Amino acid sequence: MNYPVWDVPILGSGLVIALIAIFHVFISHFAVGGGFYLPMTESLALRKGRNDWLAELKKHSKFFLVLTGVFGAVTGVGIWFAIGNANPEATSTLIHFWVFAWGIEWVVFLVELSALAAYFYLWGRVSNPLHIRLGWLYAIAAWLSLFLINGILTFMLTPGQAWLNAAGTGNETFSFWAAFFNPTFWPSLIVRTLICLTQAGVFALVTASRIDGQRQPELKTEMTEWARRWLLPSFLLLPIALFWYLAEVPAAQRALLDLGNSTVGQGLFTLLSRLKLVFLISSAAVVAAVYLFTSKRNAVGFGLGSALGVAAMAYVSIGSMEMLREMLRKPYVVGQHMFSNGVRKSEVARMNRDGYLTNAAWVRPEERARWTSPDHGQNSAVPDLSRGELMFRGQCMACHTLDGYRGMRKLLLGRDHKGIANLIAVLHTYSDDSPYRPFMPPLVGTTAEVEALTDFLAAQVSGTNSVPNKP
Ligand code: HEC
Repeated sequence: MNYPVWDVPILGSGLVIALIAIFHVFISHFAVGGGFYLPMTESLALRKGRNDWLAELKKHSKFFLVLTGVFGAVTGVGIWFAIGNANPEATSTLIHFWVFAWGIEWVVFLVELSALAAYFYLWGRVSNPLHIRLGWLYAIAAWLSLFLINGILTFMLTPGQAWLNAAGTGNETFSFWAAFFNPTFWPSLIVRTLICLTQAGVFALVTASRIDGQRQPELKTEMTEWARRWLLPSFLLLPIALFWYLAEVPAAQRALLDLGNSTVGQGLFTLLSRLKLVFLISSAAVVAAVYLFTSKRNAVGFGLGSALGVAAMAYVSIGSMEMLREMLRKPYVVGQHMFSNGVRKSEVARMNRDGYLTNAAWVRPEERARWTSPDHGQNSAVPDLSRGELMFRGQCMACHTLDGYRGMRKLLLGRDHKGIANLIAVLHTYSDDSPYRPFMPPLVGTTAEVEALTDFLAAQVSGTNSVPNKP
């Protein structure tokens, strides 16, 4: 670790990424779904000679232009800002390896945004076939951006053996394609494409529900029927694709999913199991609600409130799935290679031997001098809290805060210095049967560093600086 740490009180830096990312995920999938929805709906409306549909569509294209060009782009940059601050080491690893893939993606973005702008501004000014082709250009470019980022995102969970073998040798580039088309690439691509279609369906349903059923019953029935055709197949296929995806995830990561089932009530990592349930229930609810309430008989009376209800359930479903995917990676940020706190698996032994803070660039010289004194500060009457705090910041704060999200004070409540020392020892030893191994990285460092962390944590819990005398 070579960087200072981004200290975000209460939330923690990881949650900042999550909050921006969840917005971005919704918007970007929505944008891709809209890419398919616009030209397909336009073709259908032209075939049916429905000018009323076309007028609606023109409004929709403006909506997608603002959504993609403003909110999609801004949240995308926001993710870069957040990951660069929260996890510089991982961001650096990714950007070094994927620079060309990202370069290509930005070219694709440019095509996507230009095509969409042309599609909106040239409405009614160019021939219909050309206009539809512009719509398809937007759709294809948008989907290609998903194709590209899917390679990078799936790499983070399953980099694949070829890349793992090459990592750190300087020959990583030769494993580019194997890393891109990694084990979870294809199922994830299908899952994401289906999500895009569900988003288009939600959009279609909400807009159809706003049509006045008394004045335009025919338009409303047809638009609702069209929305059903997007929503029902995609939501039915989504769980199947997700199970294919999970089947490709290494068993050790997949085990996280069941951890909650066996440890419910023990304060262990139960979130994933709950997310899995939430996903299944909400997807089923969307299918049932759409199937029952938007049939031909009910379409005219299907109002905005109900449509928003379906949209909310759809978001819960997609959101829980996205969180589940992100959490599955624990304790890694790049699977089997780099832990969430930026420590590489290959560095663990060296850091245990030479120390974790030994090469940390931002440690003040006088601090370091104290640590490297012959007695390692061990015999000083004042415990070495600053060293412990740096250990905490460097190794724990990627996932924990002191008082907020996964707050340390709460998690450690009731443990005295000895209890904390025992727990820390378990994290440090990192034996195969450690209950924490599935979701926490090993604690690395010399004995003195580990003790400094223990002292720091004990002082946080007791609220004082008094630490029992060491033997
Ligand atoms: C990769 C993310 C991650 C990192 C890094 C991490 N933890 Fe955790 N830790 C977790 C998760 C997830 C839980 C489970 C929390 C829950 O059940 O809500 C947890 C739980 C804990 C608990 C409660 C355990 C129990 O038995 O109740 C303690 C204590 C803890 N962590 C300490 C630490 C310390 C100390 C560090 C730094 C050396 C650290 N963690 C680093 C993810 C992490």
